[in-house]
Amino acid sequence: MPGDSMDKPNTVTCTAPVNIAVIKYWGKRNEELILPINSSLSVTLHQDQLKTTTTVATSRSFQEDRIWLNGKEEDITHPRLQSCLREIRRLARKRRNDGDPALDSKGLSHKVHICSVNDFPTAAGLASSAAGFACLVYTLARVFAVEGELSGIARQGSGSACRSMYGGFVQWIMGQKDDGKDSLAQQVAPETHWPELRVLVLVASAERKPVGSTSGMQTSVQTSRLLKHRAESVVPGRMVEMIEAVQRKDFAAFAELTMKDSNQFHATCLDTYPPIFYLNSVSQQVIKLVHRYNRHYGETRLAYTFDAGPNAVIYTLQQHVPEFVQAVQHFFPPETNGGQFLKGLPVDGVALSEELKQAIGLEPLPKGLSYVISTKVGPGPCVVEDPTQHLLGSDGLPKKTV
Ligand code: DP6
Repeated sequence: MPGDSMDKPNTVTCTAPVNIAVIKYWGKRNEELILPINSSLSVTLHQDQLKTTTTVATSRSFQEDRIWLNGKEEDITHPRLQSCLREIRRLARKRRNDGDPALDSKGLSHKVHICSVNDFPTAAGLASSAAGFACLVYTLARVFAVEGELSGIARQGSGSACRSMYGGFVQWIMGQKDDGKDSLAQQVAPETHWPELRVLVLVASAERKPVGSTSGMQTSVQTSRLLKHRAESVVPGRMVEMIEAVQRKDFAAFAELTMKDSNQFHATCLDTYPPIFYLNSVSQQVIKLVHRYNRHYGETRLAYTFDAGPNAVIYTLQQHVPEFVQAVQHFFPPETNGGQFLKGLPVDGVALSEELKQAIGLEPLPKGLSYVISTKVGPGPCVVEDPTQHLLGSDGLPKKTV
């Protein structure tokens, strides 16, 4: 029956996580479908510390598709956004045509309003597009009652987004097909698999924005022979070793592969012509700190990895976190007091031994880092059941608080 209730938007809110690759994706074989030249593997970070929240509403009364990101209306005609919307609507139509009449009421012909926020600064360079597109696709799928494999759609928003569709340890299998149907993410182990594993995000002080991943990897594919060698001859073996290391919870093997793969990714950036520099002096100091720390203990207790920017992500085991955080504070004396510097999971304070300081022997870099986020492995996207958490009001527009 027509009336108010029919004009009330159908609204769904979901959250999705950030992921950090330990075997990096760099380079596409198909730009439009976002098909990679190698497989990759990542760890999904916990949403208690870092997440994207997205509300999608559909209503008969909406005139056009619209999107607001972090409080600002953006252009919905962006090709990657359009790919995700088109694919979800296509699957929804398919389900309806296959005989699920309930789907009619889901407003397949209705326009959507999308509102999305990150609870971490985009400037922190933390793969916001991965969490963002994963959340968009997951939420759209709920609104349009689409079920099943969705990572192939998230991939078309941003390659790394397909890995944020699952929690724990996730591989993106590159696939072989030209249409990309077999280029999908798959969980290798759930978030409960390795409870001692911890993640520290070391956010380097603000810098000018480096070359973005999309254009950077394009130039690398065009010019770097090292990248071709890496994709064809190095990554396939590393994927096998990494999956085994995760399954065995072998930290030393996991850590070594992680560091070597990050280093090789950055070597391919340097082999790109003209070269791309993502690491800066702070990143180099972190690399030295990690190696000297490990050398001091005669075992691999820490691993670093860097994406397309200077921020380090450190993997370690719970028991080593307090001392390492102390070492970070010593070698990167913060501007703010300790409480402000460390965000996320609480970390016990400990004293740093003179012996360790000397073994590391680096000149402190004051204010090199702006803060550290302490987190752990986490689950995949979730539905937010509480309607007061919707980012869009009953009028289909962003709430004032967004
Ligand atoms: C260095 O997924 O951001 O973080 O597919 O063009 O959107 P597009 O690129 P994106 O690239 C991520 C690159 C990386 C490595 C990784 O996450 O595997």
